[in-house]
Amino acid sequence: MPQELPASALYSNPGLGRLWRQVHLNCSPFRHRPSVRRLYLRPASILRKILTTPYSLVALGCADGTKESLLFGKLPKPSYVLAADTNLSLARQASRHLPAHKKTFRKIDLSNSLPALHLPPFTKRVFTLYGVLPNLDPLPLLRRLARRMNRGDLLLFSANLAPGQKGRIGARRVLGQYDNLPTRRWLEAAVLRFRPRLPPGRLVFGVFRDPRQVALARVEARWITTQGSRIVLASRRPTKSQVEKWISRVGLRKLARFLEPRGEEGVWIVARRAARR
Ligand SMILES: C[S@@+](CC[C@H](N)C(=O)[O-])C[C@H]1O[C@@H](n2cnc3c(N)ncnc32)[C@H](O)[C@@H]1O
Repeated sequence: MPQELPASALYSNPGLGRLWRQVHLNCSPFRHRPSVRRLYLRPASILRKILTTPYSLVALGCADGTKESLLFGKLPKPSYVLAADTNLSLARQASRHLPAHKKTFRKIDLSNSLPALHLPPFTKRVFTLYGVLPNLDPLPLLRRLARRMNRGDLLLFSANLAPGQKGRIGARRVLGQYDNLPTRRWLEAAVLRFRPRLPPGRLVFGVFRDPRQVALARVEARWITTQGSRIVLASRRPTKSQVEKWISRVGLRKLARFLEPRGEEGVWIVARRAARR
């Protein structure tokens, strides 16, 4: 199994953040398919009923906060917003965009335990985690978040799905969303900046099994060199039923699920289960 670059190595400086934004602007289904944009607005009607008391929004891995701004612009304003990302300049942009009475931003590493968040006491907390589960090991990440949730807190997360019932076949259908020029430019820049330096090579995209959950399909971009290969990008594409197994395994319960018509992306609203496992 080739070694893997940490996901943060693809985003962790302003230049890479800008290249990722180019990928997002040019290739993201969120930008080009109105049905995917609508997906991120669909939780609004349920949230309007739940968010009747002051709440804090913790936007995790939020990049520039576009998706959160779309949804929370339609909801009662949060008392407090914390925009948190490995890329500080993106988190700063997100905190500018998001509506709130008070806001802040910080650098965070979601591959470790969440740090103290210093949220205002007596507010319900709404965590968002959009577009992050593909990049980080999903089950441990969801488990860490579940452990930090109190009764009444909510987590909204998205998953990029393998459409259909069969993960690897579904993942092959979306390979073109990765193997394209803007994505290659972004990943090649990340390879060049990586230390210790990687030998010259070329990027090859394919669908593989996740080494930690063999039934889970991953689209990978591998840097192939004469001295071996490294995984530069690993994007997990679970089926919707795999996502729901994760929810249950980490002690959360589903309040709602929204899928876009092609079944390539979904948004879930989950809460803590009453009795912890
Ligand atoms: C695919 S982008 C999704 C951005 C945005 N939430 C969206 O859905 O458009 C992944 C985001 O996760 C952030 N990220 C990657 N690894 C991270 C880590 N270890 N800790 C915190 N954020 C991370 C990146 O900086 C980036 O903003």
